Amino acid sequence: MQTSFRGKHLITLQEWTKEEIDTLLDVSYDLKRKFAMGQRTPYLQDQTVFLMFFEQSTRTRNSMEAGITQLGGHAHFLDTSNMQIAHGESAKDTAIILSSYGHAIACRNCFWEQGNKYLRELAKWSRVPVINMQCDLYHPLQGLADLMTIQEKFGRTERVKVSIIWTYATSHKKPISVPLTQSLLFPRYAMDVTLAYPKGYELPDWAIEQAKKNAEENGGTFRITHDQEEAYRDADVVIPKNWGSWVTNQSTQVVDDLLEANKHWKCTEELMKLTSKNSIYMHALPADRNNEVEDSVIDGPHSVVYDEAENRLHTAKAVMLLTMGGRS
Ligand code: CP
Repeated sequence: MQTSFRGKHLITLQEWTKEEIDTLLDVSYDLKRKFAMGQRTPYLQDQTVFLMFFEQSTRTRNSMEAGITQLGGHAHFLDTSNMQIAHGESAKDTAIILSSYGHAIACRNCFWEQGNKYLRELAKWSRVPVINMQCDLYHPLQGLADLMTIQEKFGRTERVKVSIIWTYATSHKKPISVPLTQSLLFPRYAMDVTLAYPKGYELPDWAIEQAKKNAEENGGTFRITHDQEEAYRDADVVIPKNWGSWVTNQSTQVVDDLLEANKHWKCTEELMKLTSKNSIYMHALPADRNNEVEDSVIDGPHSVVYDEAENRLHTAKAVMLLTMGGRS
C-alpha cells in the first residue's frame, strides 16, 4: 500500500497512481466506519485548511469544513471576492502567505481556461498541499466519491458498465470538470465507460485520448456515442448531467440555440427502463430537476445521489488526512 504522500498536491487524480488512489479509498472506508460508530478521529489536531471559493458550493464547502472539524482541525472559509484577490493580488503572493499560516490550501476556481492555471500557480508557490475543490477541467474530490459509491454498490469496479450522459439544463453554464474527471478515472478501474452527448458538447481531444489510454492500460473500455438511448441500454450506472459547450463555444451565455435544440436529452423513467436490472442513477448535484432529470428518477429506486453526496465527506477527510500534516 502506497502511503507516503504527505504534502502532495491534488490537482487531478490523473497525477496520482492507482495505488495512491486505492489508499485514499481505503482510508475513506475507515473514516466512514469510524464516523458511523461515533469514534473520534482527531488526527489533524490544530491544523488549518484554507478554503478559497471563487464560486458557490454546498457539498464541497461543507464536506471540507465538517471534515476538518471531525479530524480535529479548523477551516477558514474564504470568499475570494472578499480577499485582496479582488484587488488583483497574485496567486503567488496568496499561496506564499496562506501556506505560511496553515497546513493546506484548497481552492475552487471554475473559470474557463483560468481555473486550472490558477490552481497550478498556487501549487507552484505553496509550501503546503493544494487541494482542487473543482476547476475548469477537474473535480477530483467528486471523482473519488463517485468511485467509492460505485465500488460500494457493486462490490467491484471491473466490467461495471458506466454511462456518462450529457443532459439539458438551464441553471448555469456548468463546467466540464465532472464528466472529464469521470472519463479519466473510471477506465483506470477497468470499467466499461460510455460518454454520450449531442454534437457541440465535446470534451477536449487530449482528455479523450488520455481516457482511451487509461482504458487500454488498465483493462477498461471507453467509447463515445451521440445516441442517448444507446448510452442507457444495459448500463449498470448512469450519470446523466449537464455540462457547458466550453470546448466549442467559450461564451458564458447559458441558454443558446444548441442547448435548446437538445432539450430531449433528459433522464426519464422511460430511458431508465433500458438500463440493467440493478442499475443505479448518480448525479454530483446540484441537479436541475425536471430539466436534467425527472423527479421520479432522482427520487426513485435507482437513485443513489444522497449516498454519493455523503461519500464526499469521507473522501474529503481522507484527502486532507493523507496530504496534510507535513510542512516543507
Ligand atoms: N458536487 C459538488 O461539487 O457540489 P457543490 O457545487 O455544492 O460543492
